Order: sequence, then C-alpha cells, then structure tokens
Amino acid sequence: MTSNPPPYATADQTAAGAQKTVLVHLEFSGTDFEADRVEFIELARSAGLNVVGVIGGKRERPDAGTYAGSGKVDEIAITAKAAGAELIVFNHDLSPSQERNLEKRFECRVINRAGLILDIFARRARSHEGKLQVELARLNHMATRLVRGWTHLERQKGGIGLRGGMGETQLEIDRRLLRGRMDTLKKQLETVKSRRAQNRQGRQRAEIPTVSLVGYTNAGKSTLFNAMTGDATFASNQLFATLDTTVRKVELPTGETAVLADTVGFIRDLPHDLIAAFRATLEESRDAELLLHVIDAGDSERGARIEQVEEVLKEIGADDVPRLQVFNKIDLREGETPRIELDDLGVPQRVFLSARSGEGLDLLRTAIAARLYPDLSEEDLLLPPRAAKLRAQLYQLHAVISESTDDDGSSRLRVRLPYSRLERLCHEAGVSLPVRVTPALN
Ligand code: GTP
Repeated sequence: MTSNPPPYATADQTAAGAQKTVLVHLEFSGTDFEADRVEFIELARSAGLNVVGVIGGKRERPDAGTYAGSGKVDEIAITAKAAGAELIVFNHDLSPSQERNLEKRFECRVINRAGLILDIFARRARSHEGKLQVELARLNHMATRLVRGWTHLERQKGGIGLRGGMGETQLEIDRRLLRGRMDTLKKQLETVKSRRAQNRQGRQRAEIPTVSLVGYTNAGKSTLFNAMTGDATFASNQLFATLDTTVRKVELPTGETAVLADTVGFIRDLPHDLIAAFRATLEESRDAELLLHVIDAGDSERGARIEQVEEVLKEIGADDVPRLQVFNKIDLREGETPRIELDDLGVPQRVFLSARSGEGLDLLRTAIAARLYPDLSEEDLLLPPRAAKLRAQLYQLHAVISESTDDDGSSRLRVRLPYSRLERLCHEAGVSLPVRVTPALN
C-alpha cells in the first residue's frame, strides 16, 4: 500500500450532504415513467442530496454525444444555473464520454444512476467486507472515467463521486495508485471471503440452517431482523440502510435454532459492477435453506417489486432456494390481520405481519419452523436409565415437553423435534422409537 492519499473519495470522505442537485429522468418508450421517477427521487434523497429540480421529457432514443439531445441539454443548463446546482444526476446509463461532454456543458459534476447507487452504498457500508466491496466497485466504476478529459473538474471539492483537487500531472500516478489499491482490496476481500466460507462450514457442521432475508430496498428487512433477533442493528427509513449480511441466531418455537441473515436490499437495474462486487454478500442467500422474501404490503408497486427481486435472485443463482413470502407493514393497511397462508399441501407460503408492532412475529417463527422442519412431530419415548446421555441431549435441544419417571428408573418423555433427527439420536443411543404419532404443525 502507498502512503499517498488515494485519488478518490472513500466512504468516510463522501459528503453528498446538502449538495444542490438537479435530477434528470427521461422517458423512453416501454418504461414505467412515473414509478421510475418516484424511485429515482427517493434514491437521491437516500443519498442526502438537496434536490432543487427534476427535469423530465420524452425521447425516442438516447443521443450519442449527450444522451439527452441538444434542446434538452439547454433546458437542463438553464434550470441548473438558475438553481445554483452543484450536481446533475441522470437516472440513466451514461457512458464516460457522455458524462464528460455534459460536465463541460453544465460546468458542474454529472453522474449517472450507477454512480448514485454506488455513492449510497459507500455511505451505508457497515462491515469491513462491505466497505471493501463498495470501494472496489467504486474504483471499478471510476477506472473507466479517470481520463484527461475531466481535468476541468479538478478544482471542485466535496460532494458525490470522484474527488480530490489533484493536478493534471498527477493523472498517471493516480491511475497507478488506483490499480494498486484495487489489487490490495481484491486480496483483502479474498481473505474475508475465505473466513466467511469457514464460518458457513462451521454452521453446516453444527447443522444450523440459515434463513436469509431478501427483499426490495426499504421493505423492512432490518426492522424484521432486529425484531426477530432482539438486536438493535441499524434501521432507517432511507433506502439501502443495509449493506452487509448480518448474521444472528434466532430461536424457533420448536426449540430449534436457525441462523438469520440480513442482506442488502435489491433494486432494479443494479449496476453490474455492484452485482459482481456484492457476490460474496449475496452468496449467503444462495446457500440458505430458506429465503424470507420481505415485501412492503403497503407498497402499491409491490407486484413489480416482487418480480424484480425474483429476477435478481435468478441472476445470483438463488432462484431454486425455497421461499417464504413475508408481507410486512400490515399496520399500514386497514383491516389486514396477522396470518399464515398455506398451500394445498398445508405448507406455509405467506406470512402477514408487522415488524414494527411485532404482530405476527410468532406466526413467522412457526412458519419458518414448519418450512425448515416439515417432519416436526411429537413423540412419546420410554428411555431406560442407561439412555441418560440421550435424555440429556433431548433437554439440551429444548425438545422435552413433559417427563415422568417409572419405578424402575425409566423416563417417559414427550418430546417435540424433527422426526428424522429424533430417529438419528435414538439410533445412536440404541433406543427404539415408537411409530410416529402426531405431526405438531399443520
Ligand atoms: P434496506 O436496508 O434499504 O434494504 O431497507 P430494509 O428492507 O432493511 O428496511 P428497514 O428495516 O430499514 O425499514 C425501512 C423503513 O420501513 C423504516 O422506516 C422502518 O421503520 C419502516 N418499517 C419497517 N417495518 C415496518 C412495519 O412493520 N410497519 C411500518 N409502518 N413501518 C415499518
């Protein structure tokens, strides 16, 4: 690593603050203009930007040089100047050269949608791994943009994106520093990744199933995670509050334990750089035994959001992991009650709850248990005194519902746990197991 400061803003230095910003969102045929516009404004607010203008408009196709075309560029320039804008954000995929052309014309910083999302991610990364991943993604994004053409911006300081007041002669050095930093980050990420794999293996050995929370950004995953695990991790009403998988234990009503993992919020058109960089985080969902797809029940766009999440899950290869849909925020919907919806076979498919009020959390625990342990059952066991080890194991698993002792010292136990597990434990202890009696859940 070099001792020189890096030629880009780190997450800590990013100070989107109250930058006066004009947003540009153009309509092309086949896009859902209004929904995309609302989401774009929410994203900008998430980045802490001070939105002083939103410019829309229709176009057949993007202009090669400026994306927006000369008439629209003039309109943006006038609005931006009048509002004293310091930043212009396009909700589109601008090429580096289009960004440069626009910056020359507007005399202020221009970023595209990917740049905006990267900036939000940089501000929200919490864990060491998350910070490394975001920094790498940002450098990747920047690497294509670090060219001489943008030197007119070097005097600008603060705000979103590439920062630093460097001199033109620095560019070559900076490019080298950038590459060096990226190599270091990749090595550090490899180390963190192998540690993560070890932890996962440890959990697999201990047979603790992992349940991953996935869902569209702002659906309430962090709030649900906290409510389920009793942990006060960061939750906010801004988009992307979660950037890392956070892992905690959760107790199920069966006495079983599962590992609950909170993950980054999904969003449509996630920049590709970011998908690659976040693979390690998302891998956790791919390896989960069950995905809890958290949905904002009060969101009028929920149908489209569900599809978008499903699409991203497919992209990361998690589409064959079993799902349980969690309709959150029912407190916002009049007449909605906490409940579990089952499919024709009696398997829970959807749970309606409020992570904020806590209504329905018990139902979610029950539904998770039923999905993870479909063979959960209650059995009566007669244990001879020599089976004291098995008896202790059953207590350790919180599986014993009641116990009485016979005159000969044998224990009569009523236990509740997955039948396959009970069978294995009994087999190891050389105790015969009576024929299955009643399934506990359904
Ligand atoms: P990202 O980290 O952006 O992916 O968001 P998230 O899905 O983790 O959402 P988060 O838990 O941060 O919640 C987003 C907002 O919804 C916050 O303002 C929460 O307080 C609010 N919220 C979460 N659950 C509920 C709920 O059950 N009812 C209501 N009314 N609000 C909720």
